[in-house]
Amino acid sequence: MSDRLEKIIEFVEKNSIVADIGTDHGLVPIYLSKNKIAKRIIGIDISEKSLLKLKLKIENNLKYQNIYPIVSDGLKALKPFEVDTIIISGMGGLLISKILEESPEIAKSANTLVLQGNNNIEALRRFLHENGYAIVDEFDVFENSKYYQILKVQSGLEVYKKDYYYEFGKVLIEKGSLNLKGFIELEIEKINNIIEDIEVLSKEDMTEKINNFNERKEYLKQVVEEIESNRCN
Ligand SMILES: C[S@@+](CC[C@H](N)C(=O)[O-])C[C@H]1O[C@@H](n2cnc3c(N)ncnc32)[C@H](O)[C@@H]1O
Repeated sequence: MSDRLEKIIEFVEKNSIVADIGTDHGLVPIYLSKNKIAKRIIGIDISEKSLLKLKLKIENNLKYQNIYPIVSDGLKALKPFEVDTIIISGMGGLLISKILEESPEIAKSANTLVLQGNNNIEALRRFLHENGYAIVDEFDVFENSKYYQILKVQSGLEVYKKDYYYEFGKVLIEKGSLNLKGFIELEIEKINNIIEDIEVLSKEDMTEKINNFNERKEYLKQVVEEIESNRCN
C-alpha cells in the first residue's frame, strides 16, 4: 500500500459503507476489506478493462465477498444514501469536480468525501466552496518525488479569505505541514534558478518577466511564513 493510498484510507471511518470511484487496480477496496475497515465496498470504474483488475483479485476469494465491482461513470450507478464515504482519487481535480457536479444528490447524501486530485487542486477547492462543501481536514504526502494533497470533505458552507488557502490548503497551512513547506520551498528554488538562467542567457529585456517571478516568490514566502508561525504556536 502506497503512502498516498494509506493517507486516503485514514479518512475512512471504521465499519462504513464505501464507494471507491476510479478504483482501477482496486487496492483501496482490497485493503478496506482485508483490514475490516469497511462493511461493504463498491469499486467503480468507467473502464471495464480497468475494473477487471479488481474483479480478478476478488474472484473466488471468500475474504473479499464484501467488495462489489461496478462499471459506471462517476457516481451515476449509486443511489442517494447508499454509501457513507465516497473516495475519488488519482485523477485530475477538474474531473473530480465534474463527477461531483453531475450527481449532487449522491455526493451530498454521503457523510464524507475523500478527494485526492493529481492536479488543479485550487480549482477543486473553489468548486467545493461554491457548491456547498466544506474541507474539514487534509493530509499531504510526498511519494516518488510527487506531492499529493488529500481532502476530507463534508456538506457545509465555507469561504476562504486568502487566495493562497485555495492553492495550498488552509488546513495544511494551519497544521504547519512540513511537506507543504518543503513543496513551496522547492518552487521558490525553481523560480530562483529560472531568474538566474534568464539573467545569464537572455539577450532581450526581461525585466517584466523577472518582476513577475519575484512577485510570485514573495507570495510563496508569505505562505511559508504562515506555516512557520503556525508551527511555533
Ligand atoms: C489513475 S487511476 C486511479 C486509481 C486509484 N483510484 C488511485 O488513486 O490510485 C484513474 C482511474 O479512474 C478511472 N476513471 C476515469 N474517469 C472516470 C469516471 N468518470 N468514473 C469512474 N472512473 C473513472 C479510470 O478508468 C482509471 O482506472
